[in-house]
Amino acid sequence: MDIIQEINKLKIERNAVIMAHNYTLPEVQDIADYSGDSLELARIAAGCDARVIVLCGVRFMAETAKILSPEAIVLHPAPESGCPMADMADAAAVKEFREKNPDTLLIAYVNTTAATKSEVDICCTSGNAEKIVAALPENQKVMFLPDANLGGNLIRSLGRPMGLWDGCCPIHNRITPDDIRQARAAHPEAVVMVHPECKVEVTALADHALSTGGMLKLVSGSSAKEFVVGTEIGIIHRMKKENPDKKFYPLDNNPVCEDMKKITLEKIAAVLRDLSCRVELDADVIAKARRPIEKMLELSK
Ligand code: 13P
Ligand code: SF4
Repeated sequence: MDIIQEINKLKIERNAVIMAHNYTLPEVQDIADYSGDSLELARIAAGCDARVIVLCGVRFMAETAKILSPEAIVLHPAPESGCPMADMADAAAVKEFREKNPDTLLIAYVNTTAATKSEVDICCTSGNAEKIVAALPENQKVMFLPDANLGGNLIRSLGRPMGLWDGCCPIHNRITPDDIRQARAAHPEAVVMVHPECKVEVTALADHALSTGGMLKLVSGSSAKEFVVGTEIGIIHRMKKENPDKKFYPLDNNPVCEDMKKITLEKIAAVLRDLSCRVELDADVIAKARRPIEKMLELSK
């Protein structure tokens, strides 16, 4: 029996579903029951009644699945796979900020730890951030964390002041305006898409700044045949699979999130065999972190 057959057999025996982020390895996306962006994976976890969820992505995504589906056994096949941006907003520092600024609403990008989420008022993802920030009263003081680039892009598109935490995604933050100019020059017919985790001066040069799920929708619904993909290269696998007649160009900068690539078929099979690498969170953290995520899901219906 090969590894794919073994995973499929174990999935049935364990009553398990496999969810994969759009940046994971192609073979991981192919074996998954669901692939998606952070918002889509959170929505699927919230409505999931499987006994076991195997979350293929970085640690905060597995935590979010556990928070939204606490009765399920949530397995994270590479526990060492974290998000460097999530580590830039330490829960103790966020708590201290909240205590010193009681009149400021804290909005946390979903790329935060469960402990940090339990200190904030509302979460957002790149797929719903505009909708959530736009729904806030105009005079409400806001601190946006941890991604100063996503926050800066929201300030630019909504014209609303917000405090910005000092954090970023190291992979998207490395993308420069010159990378976009070069891609346009090399592919003048292509639609240029970037992720809103890129700097404001980079998104300003693109045709669209979208979550990974937003990019997939745009590509499928567009009559254009060529696309520059200004985000982590893992997403190109699904773009090609769903749109075999279209062409996709990564940036020369080659953005790769090594943490996302730590999830392999061997590790998925291993955790399904012995139900190891379980995500365990205190009941208190689950209860507190659930509130801002549920507010987000409610506001982004
Ligand atoms: P989305 O898939 O929500 O666009 O997020 C990208 C990302 O970096 C997740 O860590
Ligand atoms: Fe974190 Fe960036 Fe990797 Fe997403 S791409 S998981 S934000 S480091």
